[in-house]
Amino acid sequence: MITEKRLNSLAQLSGPKGVPILGNLLQVDVQKLHTIMEEWSAIYGSIYKFKLANRTVVAISDPVLIQNILRDRPKTYRRFSSIERVGAELGSNGLVAAEGKQWQHQRQITMQAFKTKQLQSFFPVMRNITERLKNCWDKIADTEQAIDIKEDWVKYTVDLTTNFAFGYDINLLEQEGDGFQIHLQRFLPVYNRRANAPFPYWHFIKLPDERRMEKSLDIIKEKINLFVQQTRKKLEQQSDNTIEAANFLEALLLTKGENGQYLTDAEIQGNIITILLAGEDTTAYTLAWLVHLMAEHPEIQHKMQVEVDTVLGADSIPQDLSAIEKLNYIEAVAHETLRLKSVAPLFFMEPNEDVELAGTNIPKGTFLMLVTRYAALQKENFSDPLEFKPERWLESAATGCVHNRNANIPFGAGPRFCPGRNLALLEIKIAMAMLCKNFSITRAETEQPVQEVFSFTMMPDKVMVKFETR
Ligand code: HEM
Repeated sequence: MITEKRLNSLAQLSGPKGVPILGNLLQVDVQKLHTIMEEWSAIYGSIYKFKLANRTVVAISDPVLIQNILRDRPKTYRRFSSIERVGAELGSNGLVAAEGKQWQHQRQITMQAFKTKQLQSFFPVMRNITERLKNCWDKIADTEQAIDIKEDWVKYTVDLTTNFAFGYDINLLEQEGDGFQIHLQRFLPVYNRRANAPFPYWHFIKLPDERRMEKSLDIIKEKINLFVQQTRKKLEQQSDNTIEAANFLEALLLTKGENGQYLTDAEIQGNIITILLAGEDTTAYTLAWLVHLMAEHPEIQHKMQVEVDTVLGADSIPQDLSAIEKLNYIEAVAHETLRLKSVAPLFFMEPNEDVELAGTNIPKGTFLMLVTRYAALQKENFSDPLEFKPERWLESAATGCVHNRNANIPFGAGPRFCPGRNLALLEIKIAMAMLCKNFSITRAETEQPVQEVFSFTMMPDKVMVKFETR
């Protein structure tokens, strides 16, 4: 006899007690959202529910469930729908916000720009920008000056990413820039607020920062359009079929999708903005966390210096990709940093249809919060899970240690896996090689320990350090 499986309903899921009308809203400090979700995962289990006013949210921290959800895109699951809706309204839907067929078309074209060959031809630009950063630090080394290194990493990744995206050398490291970055910085806070708002209040009233952001967005789009026109002209003049794309924009202009269509100008604009937003802070904050951990662990800093001395010899910066490939210990430090301090510890998703998750019926459109860092910090997945042990990522690591790679997904998983992973790791390795070859870092004495702050990505509040020339 076939018995029908009985599913639990959402109402049967456990979770923290809330209050009438507001639910758990008052317990949720947005800047600590990821740690609150992790604490609740420890109490209520790998799937639980809570309420933000009238909206039920299902939080999931089980790594197998999370992997299944991420793999089952774009058909069964999608990013939380307001991300696409708000992006479309602002005319800025690129790869992060697009869904379904539009996403498939964009993904296929944009991936051309992340191929190894593209990264190889970008390497000389990376080296020049890394040289600029070294010049900045040469000036402050051996003084009593302590700096918040997060700020330098942001300038560094902005310089790299604008060059990568559309060949624009904004050069924030050496000069103030032309305001482009300030316009761009106005975008995400408003975008996030709108994507999380219970109703589209901005259709009735716009706050001052929203009016400023909309003006800034027009300026950004104008600048990007200018580059699109210039680049199109340049490519038309080189009518040879063997042209190699020199940056992301050129790759987009040169590539047709499987349906024989190029991206539209609006899609190109949306994707340039997306690359700038997705590529800058994520990498900058990972670098900031890495320096924080390295300053806390001088013995690990020493091992990084020994490796870099061997690999670089007399060079102060890696000269080619073959040097980067030999930086195994620095790469292990990067992976360990991403495990402990993942800058994307929460994903906001929803199902496109009614689904079953761990025996519970989850209706279409339910807000799902994937608590992605939680599993990477549990002893059933990694030995000594809260300790900073880069050695665990080396092939020579002692066997017998627990090491479940599937529980560590700082770049996501499945078909929407971060396309910028290899570029980010390249940036991290060239930057850290330069730092370790030329300087030693010490933590500046501050009263406060470094805090994790969640604001769409997870960043350190401040990482105050001093530089000493080696
Ligand atoms: C350490 C640095 C970085 C981290 C930790 C990171 C992390 C992530 C994560 C977690 C996702 C979501 C993946 C998913 O939904 O499964 C993502 C998506 C994405 N990332 Fe990154 N990222 C980094 C650097 C970059 C860089 C350098 C670029 C480009 C220059 C980039 C471009 C993107 C794009 C376009 C997407 C959307 C992909 C899609 O939806 O198809 N990221 N990233």
